[in-house]
Amino acid sequence: MKNLYGLIGYRLSHSFSKQYFSNKFEQEHIEDSSYELFELKDIQEFPQLIEQHPNIKGMNVTIPYKQQVMRYLDGLDGSAKLVGAVNTIKFENNKRMGFNTDYYGFKESLENWLGAKQVKKALVLGTGGASRAVKCTLHALEIDFMMISRESSEHAISYEELKQKHQLKEFPLIINTTPLGMSPNIETCPDIAYEQLSSANYCYDLVYNPEITLFMKKSEERGAAVKNGLEMLHLQAEKSWEIWNNG
Ligand SMILES: NC(=O)c1ccc[n+]([C@@H]2O[C@H](COP(=O)([O-])OP(=O)(O)OC[C@H]3O[C@@H](n4cnc5c(N)ncnc54)[C@H](OP(=O)(O)O)[C@@H]3O)[C@@H](O)[C@H]2O)c1
Repeated sequence: MKNLYGLIGYRLSHSFSKQYFSNKFEQEHIEDSSYELFELKDIQEFPQLIEQHPNIKGMNVTIPYKQQVMRYLDGLDGSAKLVGAVNTIKFENNKRMGFNTDYYGFKESLENWLGAKQVKKALVLGTGGASRAVKCTLHALEIDFMMISRESSEHAISYEELKQKHQLKEFPLIINTTPLGMSPNIETCPDIAYEQLSSANYCYDLVYNPEITLFMKKSEERGAAVKNGLEMLHLQAEKSWEIWNNG
């Protein structure tokens, strides 16, 4: 029986992971493994899924189960504890361990991109699941940050308040963690004052499809450096593979 890997989530038809791992298995002649999509209507279906597939070695987890799945695990490694969410599960010796490779992927790619540049302050657009790994990275790199949300709260200010009270030059690093601009809604982008951007800004979009999002295009037009989420995506996938097989 082949080693089985897979992705759990809801609405997986556009998932990147199956194609990524299928290509990897083909290119690297990994013939004893397969990667499947497991769409779950409810996380309560998780134990039954595992029972039906005793050959599962590893899983990725996506929206909306990155937190809900934690109650079915035997333990969490430091990355999952830090971020408070799991996107990778390793099955070994009848135990299920949770990890978070989004954190690793974002941190590595941000450090690669910034290189020796010292950034002191960042703006994080959106307060959803992906923003958690971003926030942990910024903490780890000692970059001060402000969160922007559609509704202001004790943790975030609104896009309107941002425009009224701040200039974007205060934030050398701006990170889009919203799905705005993601295919097929490629004509959308976060509502910030792009005209305030300059070559002093680094604008990172977690969205990777399309390759150049509207957020990136508008930022680049003002001279900002831009980056999409593709490298992060590859890094987090490879890290999952490493955890399943060597970690
Ligand atoms: N590159 C990678 O490896 C990678 C990894 C993970 C995620 N991602 C991408 O990151 C994006 C976000 O993922 P996620 O899991 O965090 O999604 P999510 O939890 O569904 O949404 C993120 C946040 O975006 C804001 N938002 C949602 N719809 C919006 C809208 N119409 N207008 C303005 N803000 C909106 C919301 O924050 P507020 O309520 O605070 O406004 C929401 O909590 C997706 O495009 C995903 O593909 C990429």
